[in-house]
Amino acid sequence: MSASSNEHSYQSGFRNHFASEALPGALPVGQNSPQRCPYGLYAEQLTGSAFTAPRHQNLRSWLYRIRPSVAQSAYRRLAERRVATAPLSGQADPNQMRWDPVPLPDAPTDFIDGLETIAANGDAAAQVGCGVHLYACNRDMAERFFYNADGELLIVPQLGALVLRTELGVLAISPGEIAVIPRGIKFQVQLADGCDAARGYVAENYASPLELPGLGPIGANGLANPRDFLSPVAAYEDMAGDIELVAKFGGGFWATRLDHSPLDVVAWHGNYAPYKYDLARFNSINSVSFDHPDPSIFTVLTSISDTPGMANLDFVIFPPRWMVAERTFRPPYFHRNLMSEFMGLIEGVYDAKAEGFSPGGASLHNCMSPHGPDAATFEAASTAQLSPQYQGETLAFMFESRYVFQPTETALAADFRQRDYVDVWKGLASHFDPTAP
Ligand SMILES: [Fe+2]
Repeated sequence: MSASSNEHSYQSGFRNHFASEALPGALPVGQNSPQRCPYGLYAEQLTGSAFTAPRHQNLRSWLYRIRPSVAQSAYRRLAERRVATAPLSGQADPNQMRWDPVPLPDAPTDFIDGLETIAANGDAAAQVGCGVHLYACNRDMAERFFYNADGELLIVPQLGALVLRTELGVLAISPGEIAVIPRGIKFQVQLADGCDAARGYVAENYASPLELPGLGPIGANGLANPRDFLSPVAAYEDMAGDIELVAKFGGGFWATRLDHSPLDVVAWHGNYAPYKYDLARFNSINSVSFDHPDPSIFTVLTSISDTPGMANLDFVIFPPRWMVAERTFRPPYFHRNLMSEFMGLIEGVYDAKAEGFSPGGASLHNCMSPHGPDAATFEAASTAQLSPQYQGETLAFMFESRYVFQPTETALAADFRQRDYVDVWKGLASHFDPTAP
């Protein structure tokens, strides 16, 4: 059986205690580490939380595999890459920033080689903050696998469909969907059939694993519903080869060699597993009278910090939705926030900007740096005749954090950075007339 045979089989639920076996009876019954496992498998526990984490935050899975993960060579350090890890050297910058889409590579480039950090905050070693990366790739990871000890990876495709072959099974994702690969889980990224190139965004969350936000007065339903999250079913490959396993650890890249595929988990159970989510399933809640709720109303997933309500990282989307608020300036208002915002656009148009923010592009608005609609958008929206309007053809997202994002030197120097971004607000003229209340 190969790992791809279960490509379209999933288990539904957010961090459920799943159980899955690719061979009948491969899961031990009633215990985790029997003296001898079925089929001669090895039992291995993978924890994603401290042993003593509260029960609702305790994350672990038991993997039943052909060889234990320790069957690998010593790690050796790889050359520096374009992936950076917080804390970054240099200084944070209050300037509003925007980038065009990262160019697709000409040379053969896989997902790992095609990762480039655009910003980061916090301190990975202290398990605080996050990194923000872009990826652009045009070939499969072949004979090569990856895991990240520094954080979990939230993958947001913008162009091209990916097949994420993981230890726990296969996730196929397309633009409009997201996937989360928890810290430590080994995986390989392939381009889906018929897909020549792929591009997107990655949040590397160093801190508390992403979870569903509390719903407060919204009640039991709405926003992202748990049953729409999909985890893979067990799938394995029993394959010999000269395999490279790349680890991101302590901000560096390390490699170890295996004589077999690390995707050799025949059965597993537990609540620490990769998952995917179709953003079209997000149940948007918005004003049906006037004004805007704050954009937190669009939070899909959140990584909590040690201060209630102040997220280490929120993943927020601006999906297609009806705009019905009366006597209201409907695009996002002008604002200055404590929280820092990295934005990306998956498809269509974002309603605060007339032009310049393209699918695949990005913007960064840090703590207390003012931003909002550009001049053209302000003029149009403040004089528009208001009627219920469907805001379709759009899917923007935000990585929002309590910690200031520091752009990398390469992101600051990139050819695809828009150095004149601040000029989009240049045309905002005074309309003040003290004689016209
Ligand atoms: Fe904002």
